[in-house]
Amino acid sequence: MAAIFTKAPGKIILFGEHAVVYGQPAIAIPVTRVNATASIVPEIQAEPGLVRIHAPDIQLNAELSTLAENHPLGSAVRLTMEWLKPEDIPSFTLQVTSTIPIASGMGSSAAIAVAIIRAVSDFLGSPLSAQDVSSLAFEVERIQHGTPSGIDNHVIAYQQPLVFQQGKPHQLLKIDQPTHWIIADSGESTPTRETVAAVRSLFDQEPEYIQPLFDSIGAIARDAKDALINGNLPRLGMLLNQNHALLKQVKVSSTRLDQLVQAALDAGAVGAKLSGGGRGGNIIALVSPEQVETVSTSLLKAGAVNIITTLLTGNEIP
Ligand code: PMV
Repeated sequence: MAAIFTKAPGKIILFGEHAVVYGQPAIAIPVTRVNATASIVPEIQAEPGLVRIHAPDIQLNAELSTLAENHPLGSAVRLTMEWLKPEDIPSFTLQVTSTIPIASGMGSSAAIAVAIIRAVSDFLGSPLSAQDVSSLAFEVERIQHGTPSGIDNHVIAYQQPLVFQQGKPHQLLKIDQPTHWIIADSGESTPTRETVAAVRSLFDQEPEYIQPLFDSIGAIARDAKDALINGNLPRLGMLLNQNHALLKQVKVSSTRLDQLVQAALDAGAVGAKLSGGGRGGNIIALVSPEQVETVSTSLLKAGAVNIITTLLTGNEIP
């Protein structure tokens, strides 16, 4: 039985976060500059069924049977095995690593789940389709995050820019004109589960105030789809800025995020907004090719702790 190696990219949401939890469309893209990897080595000498998980990044080196039911790495392995129901499980060691910043809206947990699901299913001789990988990763995400919309597992399993809307088939986007994006980490973080819960309580208190904001965010995501495909910078810039203003009204921005958005715009970005759960995490800025350096430098000066620049092209982000 050969050794297996799989990878899954990070992701970033361009438009529609939070509103997507309430049925609106959102757009996300894979970011292959960062990724999660899973490798499996068969343990021929060990007794069948013995599975060891080694994740040096989180100092984990344990047998699967000793991990709690809801352990994120353990549940990705278990759910894949339950799905495939292999007759025999040969003994193996799974090693997991990731360069995706954690808790910053870049899909680290979904990417780790996708890499593990792919590795385990390949190792067991039954590689899964992107759709099945996505469904299983969603189950892992549910154990971890409660009520995820499903956008992370979709964009990461398919590794393509897409429009995601709950209850509808996703739409993969074929990008005709490349666009340059800067992802700037604020250095602060709030778990997505907390910001989603905060928005839920706001919605429950004042649905008549919040619902129109979600409707507007949904309209922006619909409008952004064609602008993204065609690389229409002025339109995308305007939509990014409008989306950020709406997210502020939903109270998921923060002083630091607003400062970074402003720094990007002051340095000449076409548009900018927070991305992901908010109250920390990343902002994204759309820039012309000539502005990449200037805007990146300004964001670092304004306090960003990490910058990832990325080009959205045909089918993936290099
Ligand atoms: O923080 P992230 O990038 O995982 O994004 C969360 C996106 C939300 O819309 C806030 C939640 C969700 O499950 O879609």
